[in-house]
Amino acid sequence: MKIIIVGASGTIGKVVTEELSKRHEIIKASRSKGDVQVDIESPRSIEAMYKHAGKFDAMVSTTGLGHFGPLKTATDKEFRRGVDSKLMGQINLVLIGQHYINAKGSFTLTSGILGEDPVRLGANLSMANGGINSFVIAAAIELENNVRINVVSPGVVEDSPGNFQYFPGHIPVMMDNVVAAYVRSVEGALTGKIIKVF
Ligand SMILES: NC(=O)c1ccc[n+]([C@@H]2O[C@H](COP(=O)([O-])OP(=O)(O)OC[C@H]3O[C@@H](n4cnc5c(N)ncnc54)[C@H](OP(=O)(O)O)[C@@H]3O)[C@@H](O)[C@H]2O)c1
Repeated sequence: MKIIIVGASGTIGKVVTEELSKRHEIIKASRSKGDVQVDIESPRSIEAMYKHAGKFDAMVSTTGLGHFGPLKTATDKEFRRGVDSKLMGQINLVLIGQHYINAKGSFTLTSGILGEDPVRLGANLSMANGGINSFVIAAAIELENNVRINVVSPGVVEDSPGNFQYFPGHIPVMMDNVVAAYVRSVEGALTGKIIKVF
């Protein structure tokens, strides 16, 4: 398969890229590195990425930023970070990508445990994750040509120790299990699923 991985240079993305590249042709994309540069906050940039890549069989997104901070002082501007990047950035990868993907292709997005199991300071990411999960279950019933869509929802990952302090009582999830969830989505037959790794 020809697979575009957006966020291929990230903590999760680089390990997913390593695994999928054993069996597939990979186009690595991120904001500043890889085979193609893309800013997911810009629909025009996403369109340019797909035009550059040409027809493809799968798009995996392991990207999307959000704001981490107290609710009490949160501002509209801070909350739009999660909307513009993690939520609409990933949704636009699908809205635009559906016009370039091959029949029977697949989209795999990334949300996270905060969509249903919140921690302090995480409301913006919780909001984005919940939105992505709901988008995926709805998009699955409308995507044409047997195109599938799933979302991987990881807990805090063992390779991100800087985040552990914000997740009291959470047992970090193994990267092997996270990578396996992306493989299930891309190489398996699931659609409309929130694949939880926690
Ligand atoms: N790590 C965890 O424990 C964990 C747990 C649950 C969920 N998640 C979710 O998993 C996803 C990936 O997390 P991560 O820890 O692997 O992140 P990361 O290490 O910070 O990597 C983020 C990746 O996204 C790219 N990126 C950032 N902004 C972009 C933009 N506007 N346009 C295009 N690419 C952009 C970065 O590219 P550049 O390097 O070029 O900037 C990088 O490749 C995020 O949605 C995160 O919320 C992570």
